[in-house]
Amino acid sequence: MVKVGIIGVGTVGESVARILEENRDIIRARAGKEIVVRKGVVRNLSRERGVNIPLCDNVDEVLEDPEIDIVVELMGGVEEPYEVVKRALGNGKAVVTANKALLAYHRYELQEAAGEIPFEYEASVAGGIPIIKALREGLSANHIESIRGIINGTANYILTKMMVEGADFEPTLKEAQELGYAEADPTFDIGGFDAAHKLLILASIAYGIDAKPEDILIEGIESVTQNDIAFAREFGYTIKLLGIAKRVGAFVELRVHPALVPQREMIAKVDGVMNGISVIGDKVGETMYYGPGAGGDATASAVISDIIAIARSGKSSPMLGFKRPLETGLKLLERDAIVSKYYLRLEVADRPGVLAKVSEVMGEQNISIETVLQKPGSGESASLLLATHACEERAMREALRRLFELESVKERPVMIRMEG
Ligand code: HSE
Repeated sequence: MVKVGIIGVGTVGESVARILEENRDIIRARAGKEIVVRKGVVRNLSRERGVNIPLCDNVDEVLEDPEIDIVVELMGGVEEPYEVVKRALGNGKAVVTANKALLAYHRYELQEAAGEIPFEYEASVAGGIPIIKALREGLSANHIESIRGIINGTANYILTKMMVEGADFEPTLKEAQELGYAEADPTFDIGGFDAAHKLLILASIAYGIDAKPEDILIEGIESVTQNDIAFAREFGYTIKLLGIAKRVGAFVELRVHPALVPQREMIAKVDGVMNGISVIGDKVGETMYYGPGAGGDATASAVISDIIAIARSGKSSPMLGFKRPLETGLKLLERDAIVSKYYLRLEVADRPGVLAKVSEVMGEQNISIETVLQKPGSGESASLLLATHACEERAMREALRRLFELESVKERPVMIRMEG
């Protein structure tokens, strides 16, 4: 028998306890052992829970219980769970976590602390999609060329509603929160930080890159408007918040931002709260993973798969799929050197010479314009919509700064990168 302690019995914790009961037969058959929840830790003991497991409000009762084999950390946050997980490992207990923020900051220290003790985290990226095991085990013969993922369901829900129904940003965010997918602070979803946490985890497995969220390019979906969506539609694109990890020579670029994606691509068809990840390996080619990236039962499905994997063998693969350091020699590409194509929206005065001034600024930065479209605005203003050929981020930033200085440009220019 394997005994589990769950720290944090919220939506996911309740699902874990319930599914262990409901699917007891298949889980026992797959694990080769009975798996029981010995105890759950909650902050508030007086709140009614939808599960029948012994509860307490003191983590020590799990961490110091010699009967408990596996600690499941579902408490959220970064520093508090870091201490809890280190203590669990220090006491020789295997750990399963769904905590992406924790891993975004401390995955290498935790890999070190775990050593030979099993440490699994399938639920931390894309909820129910087994992307960690796919990348770490299934694709381990490949050099990974790129990962492009829709890995935040809340942002994808908002963008899909804006695109399909013409919905506005704010009310759609409220709806997404009501669905229960959003983070406690939804800035993490719409600002791209949650996707960045997940991307960093994937990038460590794929490339051995030890970066923190502060080191990479992160932009959210806050400034996407119906104007941008109209442009996207007109030119056969859709707008998605993407997490991208891509190998470029001896470097790896990591970035999270809204992107215009051609509608014909599979990833463009990942709608609503669903997640989708495309991984290109040098030998296998493109593989694609699709499914629910959040929600109690979907996330619990991944958590329990980790518990079963540990129960089966009592061992795990090295946590990140290699013993540190992974000697790929790959380095993180600085943000300014990332090359991309861009879409720009400029709110301008509608009068002679304005387009010439805009092209002059772009030309000075050596940025070549591919398409221009003008939409009438109110009164004497117009929206100028431009698509560029590929250029470096640093050139684009400088162009944006200079464009905003033009007297004829009325608002801060909006820029969205183009992928594919
Ligand atoms: N807030 C996340 C999302 C939950 O919307 O995808 C899963 O990590």
